[in-house]
Amino acid sequence: MIKVSSRPFAESREDTAVCFVYQNSKKQVYSSDKGISEYITQACKSGDFKGKEGETLLFYPTMTGGTARGKRVARVLVIGLGKDEPDLEMFRKAGGAAAAAAVKTKAATISVELPACKSLTEMEIAGAITEGLVLGTYQFNKYKNVDTEDDKPGKIQSITLHARKGEKIETASARALVTAEAVCLARDMANEPGNFWTPEHFEKAGRKIAKKHGLSCTVMNSAAMKMMRMGGILGVSQGSARPPKMVTLEYRSGEKNPTLLLVGKGLTFDSGGISLKPGLGMQDMKFDMCGGAAVLAVMQAIGALKPKGINVVGIVPAAENLPGPEALKPGDVITHYNGKTVEVQNTDAEGRLILADALAYGIKKHKPAAVIDLATLTGAVIIGLGHHLTGLMSNDEKLATALLRSGEKTGEPLWRLPLGKEYRKQLDSRIADLKNIGGKSAGTITAACFLQEFVGKTPWAHLDIAGTAWDYTKKSYVPEGPSGVGVRTLVDLVMNWKKE
Ligand code: BES
Ligand code: ZN
Ligand code: ZN
Repeated sequence: MIKVSSRPFAESREDTAVCFVYQNSKKQVYSSDKGISEYITQACKSGDFKGKEGETLLFYPTMTGGTARGKRVARVLVIGLGKDEPDLEMFRKAGGAAAAAAVKTKAATISVELPACKSLTEMEIAGAITEGLVLGTYQFNKYKNVDTEDDKPGKIQSITLHARKGEKIETASARALVTAEAVCLARDMANEPGNFWTPEHFEKAGRKIAKKHGLSCTVMNSAAMKMMRMGGILGVSQGSARPPKMVTLEYRSGEKNPTLLLVGKGLTFDSGGISLKPGLGMQDMKFDMCGGAAVLAVMQAIGALKPKGINVVGIVPAAENLPGPEALKPGDVITHYNGKTVEVQNTDAEGRLILADALAYGIKKHKPAAVIDLATLTGAVIIGLGHHLTGLMSNDEKLATALLRSGEKTGEPLWRLPLGKEYRKQLDSRIADLKNIGGKSAGTITAACFLQEFVGKTPWAHLDIAGTAWDYTKKSYVPEGPSGVGVRTLVDLVMNWKKE
């Protein structure tokens, strides 16, 4: 829970007080609480604390004699900001560092004194620190037995933000909290093992989110998919005992408003199918549903934030790719929802097959002004961009620019790759409309070209998150394991959607 306070920081009643210090800070006033400020001055003078990025200093004012005011808080946690130009990322990282230090203690309630900054508003800083704090405390220990109370990791129950300039920071911190909680939801879904996260779990999660936030939820089962001739998602799942699902969540703010369609790859386990993957690292393929998880999480945030002037539809095609007796075989031909035929030369290039049906169906049904898909689609994007940037491909300049901007702002940077008919040519099939792999070169782009066949002229962007959905750039607010990438970018995009 986040509270915002305009009381002086010195009157904090929480059990941990957090303040932030810039490296090489010339000012000797580190906090509006004189007592705390004196402690920090001492720590800096002694050379023990410099305010370097991520550096932490923890002291117990009452235990060490305390100050006139220090008695009220059990702990004071000081976080270094570093000496770079302040930006949102600096404050998110500082929030993450504070969270990591706080969970090591038994702190349950923390009060935060927002740092001074000339280039950003208090609202922006409040949002970034809130995000960092909530994302930085994320843990997934559902499947761990804990022997004693002492072994239990700390859990922060409430955060109270103290504004310096008295700006209205409630809205900003509330939005940041909703967004960060959505990211945590995406991480939770992804952390679930494949035996506890199947297409049916996507259905359950979708229904739960819809109920809580008044969204509409429809789930298509395999019988309905057969009627609709969705040969892609049906083909991919035919080697598995678990039937596929297509989950749709709809947020409507007004019938006249434009609709943004989001589609997320929900492959709950990708063994490769008959084109079986090597064993080493195959366990990571439980994460092949991170695009779907991100879409549901964004819908949860949108349901809570209720933006005006835009409708948002989220679709998750969910399936499992296993080499069962009825599995697709290399060389098989399937027919997609839009009638296009595909020669499946490699059953491990399955994400594009389920997305093709979802994109064509979603566009036909919802007539969106724009569509964005998120997918852990290709290993090739990791070769090209590593684990630091999400691959972006788009047929629309405006949409691509807006996404690049949202990615930059939220600390989830994207890098645009081209599309083009030379790449599309690599998908020419001798016997069908196209094949599902385009050879060794430019694997990320040919995968996008495949998807492009199913979006027609609708402005569309594809985010290949295979490198960023897990093993993402190490940061204080991004833990090991799934990152929840894409959620903050898309919430920002939706909240700043401009009517043309
Ligand atoms: N889910 C994988 C992509 C992937 C690979 C994500 C590694 C994260 C890490 C996808 O379904 C896949 O297997 N793609 C193949 C495509 C190839 C057969 C053309 C790949 O990238 O190897
Ligand atoms: Zn695959
Ligand atoms: Zn896959």
